Amino acid sequence: MQLNIAKQKFKGSEKVMENNRQNSTNINWYPGHMEKTKREIRKISPLIDFVLELVDARIPLSSKVVGIDDIIKNKPHILVMTKKDLCDLKETEKWMEYYAKKDYNVCLVDLKNASSTKKIIELIEEVSKKINEKRKEKGMKPKSLKGLVIGIPNVGKSTLINKLANKNVAGVGNTPGFTKSLTWIKAGNNLLLDSPGILWPKFENEEVALNLASMSAIRVEVLNVDDIAIHILNKLDAHYKDKLETRYGLKELTDDYEYNYEIIGKRIGTLEKGGKIDYSRVSLFIINDIKSEKVKGITFDRC
Ligand code: G4P
Repeated sequence: MQLNIAKQKFKGSEKVMENNRQNSTNINWYPGHMEKTKREIRKISPLIDFVLELVDARIPLSSKVVGIDDIIKNKPHILVMTKKDLCDLKETEKWMEYYAKKDYNVCLVDLKNASSTKKIIELIEEVSKKINEKRKEKGMKPKSLKGLVIGIPNVGKSTLINKLANKNVAGVGNTPGFTKSLTWIKAGNNLLLDSPGILWPKFENEEVALNLASMSAIRVEVLNVDDIAIHILNKLDAHYKDKLETRYGLKELTDDYEYNYEIIGKRIGTLEKGGKIDYSRVSLFIINDIKSEKVKGITFDRC
């Protein structure tokens, strides 16, 4: 799928769109190791009592791993929405309700905040209690549970694992039938296992890919930087006009993207010699504003 979204939508802005076009690549890729990861997870599945998935609260749909429920069937699913400090809380509430209706156990955290692990552990305890009650009804003894941690890149998986691991690594156990030894990490009375490889969302459409790139979940180089920046500007224009104005000096976007870029370029001081706007610098600046948390309080997936 070739990303020409900017070009198609804004014909009057060829200069901006052509800029950096050489970086444009297609996103019709689904890393081969993803299938390998899924195979590994399928093998681990019998050991697992629940799944703990992390998503970026700013893109709670685009950052979801697709198809995992089909691999790990009928097991409770904890959904940890990270980056509470960066998302639009009003939209997040809607998403939390949406996922709760789907029977997910949902919590919202800022992983940079020390109390986030406690919150996650408490949710795991809650799920564990429910599972053990069911076991009791069947005449089975209660047990400590094992959960598999999954998430696409950049959602905060290592941050969480490291925080928990610093407190307690439960040891490395060689489990028969597995090529790799598994490191279980203590989370309260229960155990967590990091997923064995890298997982990806399904790039179902350009919107998902651009949302992921906007939040640095896929490398910016995979797409065209102008497409990403214009996607960000469009989202701000549609939902966060106040941020568009305070950060970029634009009350709203016009159909003329050269004009938009000129206003922004002047505002942020990205002029080439001779006073011309350096379009690619403007695009990278816009992308970096999200990465460096200068533009926050935003949610791009709408419920
Ligand atoms: P991953 O393993 O899922 O790929 O994600 P990782 O933990 O590496 O987190 C990706 C980036 O997101 C890190 O920033 C991390 O600090 C940040 N992050 C994770 N959770 C939150 C959160 O709830 N709020 C905020 N504000 N940031 C969060 P980085 O800049 O790549 O690394 P670092 O300099 O912070 O170490």
